[in-house]
Amino acid sequence: IETEALASIESAGDLGALEDIRVAELGKKGRVSGLMKQLGGMSPEERKEMGPKLNALKTRVDDAIRTRKEMLEAAALEAQLASEKVDLSLPPAPGPKAGALHPVMQVFEEIAAIFGDMGFTVAEGPDMEDDWHNFTALNFPEGHPARETHDTFFMKAQEGDDPKVLRTHTSPVQIRSMMTQQPPIRIIVPGRVYRNDWDATHTPMFHQVEGLVIEKNTHMGHLKGCLIDFVKAFFEVDEVEARFRPHFFPFTEPSAEMDVKYTRKGETIEIGAGDSWMEILGSGMVHPNVLRNCGIDPKEYQGFAFGMGVDRLAMLKYGMPDLRPYFEADPQWTRHYGFAP
Ligand code: PHE
Repeated sequence: IETEALASIESAGDLGALEDIRVAELGKKGRVSGLMKQLGGMSPEERKEMGPKLNALKTRVDDAIRTRKEMLEAAALEAQLASEKVDLSLPPAPGPKAGALHPVMQVFEEIAAIFGDMGFTVAEGPDMEDDWHNFTALNFPEGHPARETHDTFFMKAQEGDDPKVLRTHTSPVQIRSMMTQQPPIRIIVPGRVYRNDWDATHTPMFHQVEGLVIEKNTHMGHLKGCLIDFVKAFFEVDEVEARFRPHFFPFTEPSAEMDVKYTRKGETIEIGAGDSWMEILGSGMVHPNVLRNCGIDPKEYQGFAFGMGVDRLAMLKYGMPDLRPYFEADPQWTRHYGFAP
């Protein structure tokens, strides 16, 4: 039995075959176990002689199995290592790249934070507007040439529906807010706006932030103070030289464009002081007709409003020379000027 068992153990080719042999020899019904069982039926003398011999046999078979098992396990590990070789010269697998906020979204958030500190909340409205919210309620009379200055995109009218436009400014959200909220109102409105205009500095879709304050006893001084504080916070400067230059908007009276002084240093522009003026936003006291159109009594409440183009503010703040990459969705450009969320 021993020679046979040891030979088969020696020739077991894998761990499975070896386990079969162990069961066949040392298992409950195995051959060696069978011999051990016979000890019970032997005379004391026979048992004294055979006991140690059988025990020794069992130990030798057991040892042989253990040794063979270690060998086979080592071989299996070797084979596994050989087949799983790691090629360190390969480039790393491309992982998911982190995105980044587009500079315009970044600037929306910065502006919202600055006005948030002054007590403004964020309001929104639809990109597709009706003529009444975009023009009429804002005191653009029907057929008035001011409507033409906006290069409006008109939508094809659906049967029985009012014709729609792509909003040409965020000002219609002034109307929506005054129609649904009781004064006092203090909102800013970040959003997309559309005009049929396309050259080096104009894109048919661009971004504005609107502001609206309706309170008792508001006047131009509040408007100026609020916007100068904003410009200082946004461009991170202690002082800013600004002027409010008379202008015309149908929905504000008086109206003013805000200019700030700037210095050009090579490619970059520094806002705050210098020898040139740059226009950065439109503003004014809300026109009494607009208040009345929204059911607000101009004798009780007044307010001011402003609107700014965010694409250009982002260009100024981050020293970006060109508007076109804004719409090219090149992730490398976005990562360069944006920040990871
Ligand atoms: N809606 C104006 C524009 O798009 C900007 C503006 C807003 C002016 C609010 C005055 C008050 O040009």
